[in-house]
Amino acid sequence: MSELIAFDHVTKTYASGDAVQDLNLKIHTGELFVLVGESGSGKTTTLKMINRLIAPTSGTIQFKGQDITSYPIRELRWQIGYVLQQIALFPNMTVGQNIALIPELRHMPKAEVTNRVDELLDSVGLPPEQYRNRFPKALSGGEQQRVGILRAFANKPPVVLMDEPFSALDPLSRNQLQELVLDLHQRLNMTIVFVTHDMNEAMRLGDRIAVMRDGQLVQCDTPQAIAKSPATDWVAEFFAGTKARLMEAPLRKLTAFATPDTAPNRPLTSPDALLKSILPVIAQGEKVTIQTDSGKFKIDAQAVLNFLAANA
Ligand SMILES: Nc1ncnc2c1ncn2[C@@H]1O[C@H](COP(=O)(O)OP(=O)(O)OP(=O)(O)O)[C@@H](O)[C@H]1O
Ligand SMILES: [Mg+2]
Repeated sequence: MSELIAFDHVTKTYASGDAVQDLNLKIHTGELFVLVGESGSGKTTTLKMINRLIAPTSGTIQFKGQDITSYPIRELRWQIGYVLQQIALFPNMTVGQNIALIPELRHMPKAEVTNRVDELLDSVGLPPEQYRNRFPKALSGGEQQRVGILRAFANKPPVVLMDEPFSALDPLSRNQLQELVLDLHQRLNMTIVFVTHDMNEAMRLGDRIAVMRDGQLVQCDTPQAIAKSPATDWVAEFFAGTKARLMEAPLRKLTAFATPDTAPNRPLTSPDALLKSILPVIAQGEKVTIQTDSGKFKIDAQAVLNFLAANA
């Protein structure tokens, strides 16, 4: 596995302090690499240093074995696709024109561009004959973000940077777009550097995950290795907190099918505890009482089946 991007003792300092501190990191060709951390931990700063939107205060970054400052800046950026958190389609250009933009600027033959655009639209469930000539304002938020992703991939650059591209979307669109990124990554064989503050998203997408905190790299490993042996208590908590939060939404929905309870015989308080204990208990035909923000509820196997049927 060759390395595509390498950070060597990279620090970025602002008047307020270090946004990124002594970062050493290697990103391999072809991997889906995720940077995860809380707000302000230095993820965007790290990402923007790769395509030279931000210059490090000290240290060096290599791209394909060469210092990034040795490339003409345009040549470097042609090779690096970029997807932002907020949708950034050109409103006065159609969907097709938005996706074709970079291949055309790079003088790809017209017929080839048209084919590429149609092929990409097709591959994400947007029939080209219906979507090619529409303007961005005639698309839903999820569809617009889909087109934004295609635009970044259209030129098949060796690497695409994605900065919290799904954080503004509802859970369903988010889920579909995570599938899309996994699929594009697999089919096009490209390197992706993906930023998120959501550990669950990181675990789902990442071949490897870099966990950042206060500008420092705390751990960099495969999702399995991080889950199995978190480097610090903080990583363990960050991971566990995500798991618990993950359970909250389904739990709240599940209560819609349950019976409110005033005299609980088996109170459970945390979603994590729920996960561990509820399933074996209800499988025996018993009811369990759960505690949520909106009160206590009795849950039995039937409530779970109804919930699953309604949410299938
Ligand atoms: N131009 C700037 N001037 C001064 N401080 C900055 C600047 N840009 C970022 N910072 C600071 O650097 C730190 C890291 O910022 P960065 O944008 O990299 O965080 P992040 O991990 O992407 O956070 P978020 O999840 O909120 O996007 C923050 O404390 C931020 O306030
Ligand atoms: Mg950011």
